Amino acid sequence: MALKCEPILPNFGAVCSGLDLTRELDADEVKQITDAMDKYGVTVWRDTGMSDEDHVNFSRNFGYLERVPKRPEGQRTRLPYRELFDASNLNLEGEITTDPAAIEYRKGDRLWHTDSAFLEKRTSYSILLAHITPPAGAGGETWFADARTAYEDLPQETKNLIEDKVGVNSLWWSRKKAGAEVSEEEVYERPVAKHPLVHTHAGSGRKSLFIAAHTMDVEGMDKAEGRKLIEDLIAHTTQDKYTFKWQWQPGDMVIWDNLCTMHKGGEYDYNAYKRDMRRTTVREGTEPHLMETGDDPYTALFSKSPKSVDINSARDAGR
Ligand code: OGA
Ligand code: MN
Repeated sequence: MALKCEPILPNFGAVCSGLDLTRELDADEVKQITDAMDKYGVTVWRDTGMSDEDHVNFSRNFGYLERVPKRPEGQRTRLPYRELFDASNLNLEGEITTDPAAIEYRKGDRLWHTDSAFLEKRTSYSILLAHITPPAGAGGETWFADARTAYEDLPQETKNLIEDKVGVNSLWWSRKKAGAEVSEEEVYERPVAKHPLVHTHAGSGRKSLFIAAHTMDVEGMDKAEGRKLIEDLIAHTTQDKYTFKWQWQPGDMVIWDNLCTMHKGGEYDYNAYKRDMRRTTVREGTEPHLMETGDDPYTALFSKSPKSVDINSARDAGR
């Protein structure tokens, strides 16, 4: 069956159907999906019927999958594969977590961001599958913004200003912005990753902004000026005309290309409703045959993280 895509905004986002994602795809089908992704930046797939295993297998079509930090031997995890990132509000028992650190950590997802911008190797696709969602009308949607069209619409003067600029990205910066108790000095003591503010999106040849909540400073610019520039670019990119929200139903899957979009989680009452979302994360520039040889940057990264924003301690506390 051929892939069918219905655009959400004229230039951005599409609801796609026509492929059974629970079975192995052939090369032509995978190409149909990457072509749709290059065109729309975000694709939504409804009622996929996918299991955790289907989710991981499907994701492997697009490259090396990042893995969550290694756990000490014998320690339980909620999700069965290290390739699944837990974006839920649940603890190991599958109940709503009451652990403040876990709640704090997830707050960062409600700022406009691009996944893993704080790692040296960027993430291309994030693939998020909904297992349990709040009831209709209770929120918990996810928002997406079009960083290519937003770039193209910038005044030439701004394009010139940012052309060769490099952003300094930190996970803890975004957590600090979301209210975590971590000092600026502490943030600077942790690993950062540098990425150009503008790059050419390989699959489409269009230029795109690459900034968001993790972007702390602009190299070579006065600190205050750099931060103002980052805030202005985020505000520009997240105007209504470049954004849409997806209201999830269980079984829905959304793929977004972090190299040409931003996203954020919407509000909902996380003490009242379970929201079980699981994500795979594809590393940029890796071919499927390199899939099993990658390192685990998260293990090293989180071993250095301040306690208040440590994803491992946050999860453990929820046990
Ligand atoms: C993510 C993320 C937001 C959401 O999984 O990367 O930002 O709405 N999720 O769950
Ligand atoms: Mn995210």
